[in-house]
Amino acid sequence: MTDQTRREGGAALAVGRLTLSDFRCYSFLRMDAGPQPVVLTGPNGAGKTNILEALSFLAPGRGLRRARLGEVVRREAGAEAPWGVAARIERGDETREVGTGREAGSERRVVRIDGQPARSQSALAEVLSVLWLTPAMDRLFTEGASGRRRFLDRLVLGFDAGHGARAAAYDHALRERARLLKEGRAEPAWLHVLEETMARQGVAMAAARKETVTRLNEACRQGIGPFPAAELAVAGSVEDSLATLSAQQAEARLQGLLAASRRHDAESGGAAEGPHRSDLKVRHAVKNLPAEQCSTGEQKAVLVAIVLGQARIQAALRGWAPILLLDEVTAHLDQTRRAALFDELCALPAQSWLTGTDQSLFAELGQRGQFFRVHDAIVTRA
Ligand SMILES: Nc1ncnc2c1ncn2[C@@H]1O[C@H](COP(=O)(O)OP(=O)(O)O)[C@@H](O)[C@H]1O
Ligand SMILES: [Mg+2]
Repeated sequence: MTDQTRREGGAALAVGRLTLSDFRCYSFLRMDAGPQPVVLTGPNGAGKTNILEALSFLAPGRGLRRARLGEVVRREAGAEAPWGVAARIERGDETREVGTGREAGSERRVVRIDGQPARSQSALAEVLSVLWLTPAMDRLFTEGASGRRRFLDRLVLGFDAGHGARAAAYDHALRERARLLKEGRAEPAWLHVLEETMARQGVAMAAARKETVTRLNEACRQGIGPFPAAELAVAGSVEDSLATLSAQQAEARLQGLLAASRRHDAESGGAAEGPHRSDLKVRHAVKNLPAEQCSTGEQKAVLVAIVLGQARIQAALRGWAPILLLDEVTAHLDQTRRAALFDELCALPAQSWLTGTDQSLFAELGQRGQFFRVHDAIVTRA
């Protein structure tokens, strides 16, 4: 794929204007940007990651720090105060206004699209997608499965905007069933309804994950420039069952297993089976090693390859790539990989946002980037 063919897939998706109010260290911030890569540089604690975090709230979920709503509000405004992130999303001639935050007296993160309240956060995934790499994800392959599962589910969301709503419905039924089992006063008929929901949503989640992994393997098999080839697989009993069973049979199987494990689950407080237990397995295909056995730098290169592969495939399928938030990513890369990363970002039909302490880490981007300095929560064009 040449740069030309990739950009021809569609106009670049970009945040043309970003407005923050009482978000983290920003009482008010307004930034205008074009579709080219945006680079934020400044000292530690300046407020760079906070801007990426604000952008990550343009996707469903808890953002790139997995924060609670009361944590992101500017401390001086008070723990209960409202906060907001608003963005003008541009793609070619099309403009959408997206806003999210906490309103006064609300316990939920609300979403507005073009001025109208959205039913749920899931509606965001229909307008845009956002994907990130953060320093905390340097440990993605070595820590527990939950981080990898969230990462995979975010990748799925880029292809399938309904995935978030399905996962939310599954989790809700899972928690409700666990609560009833724990209290020991559950009516079998009501448990049956919850398990039916878990089976239906859970099998749909597993199928969507498998499809995403198949697509990603297409993109990642060759490697992306100097970023290594990677092989992905989902490990999970529900995903496995879909290798031999139809979706309907897999649902019946999961529902049967859940009904049979009520006593066990009442004690353990979870559910013995289901897509909430699955894992994403990644191999460094060149070294032929599981990613967790590679060096920190190699693991980061694999993660970059997956994110870029996702962006390429999503661009081909949907006409636009996810907005990429790359926090301190260039610090890990040698000059060849930095240059290749910038070339790739410039070729993708979506804006990317990068941070670093030192502007020299972005030298190879040159005139193709938009440079901002961040200092004490003040953002100026560099
Ligand atoms: N809720 C909050 N209210 C006010 N300031 C906050 C809040 N959360 C974090 N901060 C401040 O934001 C700054 C860190 O910003 P961050 O974007 O992580 O910096 P960096 O530029 O290193 O990425 C810290 O000084 C921190 O105290
Ligand atoms: Mg930071």
